[in-house]
Amino acid sequence: MFVHKYFTLLFLPLFLISTESHAAIYKGQSIFIKKCMPCHKPGETFVAKYKKSEWEKFLKSKAKPLATLHLKDQKAKKSWDYFKSKKYMKESKHLRDFLFEYAKDSGKIPLF
Ligand code: HEC
Repeated sequence: MFVHKYFTLLFLPLFLISTESHAAIYKGQSIFIKKCMPCHKPGETFVAKYKKSEWEKFLKSKAKPLATLHLKDQKAKKSWDYFKSKKYMKESKHLRDFLFEYAKDSGKIPLF
């Protein structure tokens, strides 16, 4: 009885943490499909274009470098509303989870 209780106490939080981070990768992927893939296709190739450390450069400081890069580029005009929005600031952490999970040096390929 004691052991069982202990087990639950110890492992339940770990389980919750791991499903939480999975949920974020999944969320990041659906954001990527909706907000990035219209211009950056094919998605598998695009995600694998950069290593984790390189994605980090785009996504650091609340993902501002990525937004700035698009806001400076006339060809990316259709993305401006999104990159200027609060929604982007909020969602970028999920996007980051997704991009890190499938970066060039992760050896993983996302399924769309
Ligand atoms: C309306 C089209 C559009 C959308 C939407 C868009 N981008 Fe871009 N993106 C561009 C353009 C144009 C450039 C400039 C370089 C080029 O011509 O490819 C660019 C450049 C980039 C670059 C650096 C250069 C490269 O090609 O590697 C990254 C990284 C990037 N985008 C990621 C994203 C991510 C992540 C999203 C989704 C949150 C996104 N983009 C959404 C049009 C878009």
